[in-house]
Amino acid sequence: MADYPVNIDVQPEVEAFFDAATNTISYIVKDPGSDACAIVDSVMDIDYAAGRITYAHADAMIAAVKERGLRLEWIIETHVHADHLSAAPYIQDKLGGKIGIGENILIVQDVFGKIFNEGTEFQRDGSQFDWLFKDGDTYTVGGMTCFAMHTPGHTPACMTHVMGDAAFVGDTLFMPDGGSARADFPGGDAATLYDSIQKVLALPDAMRLFMCHDYGPNGRDIRWETTVAEEKAHNIHVGGGKTKEQFVKFRTERDATLDMPRLILPSLQVNMRAGEVPTDRDGNPMLKVPVNAL
Ligand SMILES: [Fe+2]
Repeated sequence: MADYPVNIDVQPEVEAFFDAATNTISYIVKDPGSDACAIVDSVMDIDYAAGRITYAHADAMIAAVKERGLRLEWIIETHVHADHLSAAPYIQDKLGGKIGIGENILIVQDVFGKIFNEGTEFQRDGSQFDWLFKDGDTYTVGGMTCFAMHTPGHTPACMTHVMGDAAFVGDTLFMPDGGSARADFPGGDAATLYDSIQKVLALPDAMRLFMCHDYGPNGRDIRWETTVAEEKAHNIHVGGGKTKEQFVKFRTERDATLDMPRLILPSLQVNMRAGEVPTDRDGNPMLKVPVNAL
């Protein structure tokens, strides 16, 4: 495995915020040695039928940061989510911090810029974000050195963010009994996802893994935290030594049966702009529904 600066002796405090409307888990990650923190995968609330956007989930996270007297340094997106809207700019406006995503956002912007016919005013250079992470890039949260690991397959821009002994895997993995996320979105690829999962599983056994989603399979309560060791042993899609061929066959067959996520159209339009809602030519916030394009 590439030379990533793993250090599981650094153990950040991780506070999870579960969004029941989209089954997303957002995190505040606090440097153990200072008041610095990062937010991973925030959520903006939408009533899509009404076209109404609100901020209860983000406000709860903002309140927690303020109550604890923390200083927000990073607002991380593990990828361009297709099932919920990011609240990154709203949180940045209230708390500061830099919004970062993987550098392959350029690919995602190119693909969906065409699908949504965004025209030349939509920049496809990632400039809506403050920082574009490359594989192996390091950054700091207070005194804690963190790094980004490119883990494509679910989407081309997916990154796993490792902060001390806590890794935020986005949709690269689900809990052991949930398996893995779909790999059939534009730019997704099941074989690539398998390879990315192996990169995550090559982290130390004791590494804590934090999921972006959980759906409580088989009626169990929602959970979001596991370890590399548990995933290696028990993940129903890749654990117990399942081969790449087995995974690709299973994933491809399963993906062919899945409906599009309920919020994919508003999510992509907002998230490829780092969480900004697009506007019409008069400057009014406005979302599109491309017909038969997905
Ligand atoms: Fe996703």
